[in-house]
Amino acid sequence: MKQKIQISPSMMCADPFALREVLDTFEKGGIEWLHIDVMDGRYVPNFTLGPDYCRSLAAATSIPLDIHLMVEEPDRHVELFAKFPGARVSFHPETVRQPVRLIERIRELGASPGIALDPAMSVQACSHLLPLVDQVVIMTVNPGYAGQKLLPFCLEKITECRAFLKSCGRHADVQVDGNVSWENIPRMVAAGANILVAGTSSLFVKGRVAASELARMRELGA
Ligand code: DX5
Ligand code: ZN
Repeated sequence: MKQKIQISPSMMCADPFALREVLDTFEKGGIEWLHIDVMDGRYVPNFTLGPDYCRSLAAATSIPLDIHLMVEEPDRHVELFAKFPGARVSFHPETVRQPVRLIERIRELGASPGIALDPAMSVQACSHLLPLVDQVVIMTVNPGYAGQKLLPFCLEKITECRAFLKSCGRHADVQVDGNVSWENIPRMVAAGANILVAGTSSLFVKGRVAASELARMRELGA
């Protein structure tokens, strides 16, 4: 069963001074998620969005938050993020001692759990976790910054992940995050991705979004 392509715009790429206009465009365009990259300066050498930003967004729109924790010890912080209505919370398994316990905790808190695979993390290494989550984020750039170029070897991981999920009868979402550009989208969708994290490589130009670009992405992903 082919999953409908969903779009999760990367809000770290949005101009904070144009946020209401951006959210209106997304609501009119039926955007399914808002991708929130949370960085702690430890797991990745950068800082971005946090719980207060999530709280403001959740108060301003009904589009659910797709929160990507690029942080060490996410188990210590998950309560801050899992409480938003309809939230999805993805973490990098190498950042926590007991990933299965954290997946269970995210569900207990009412959110949808995901795991995120850094370019160096193999699908095989996470095979015991994949059947437990609702989403697998395949990073196609090194985590930490927008504006980077695709690491081509990561495309194969999308295919491997989709094949593994199929082999265990799971229909989790496979999300691709990083340089999701107009040129790369067809290959990413063909490899098996069904959620596109859209950042500076496609939707956002100087922090703003044109409705026509949403239609273009829908067509590419169809
Ligand atoms: C990497 C970030 C980026 C961002 C998307 O940690 O997650 O992937 O969301 O930005 P572009 O499209 O510039 O890669
Ligand atoms: Zn991300």
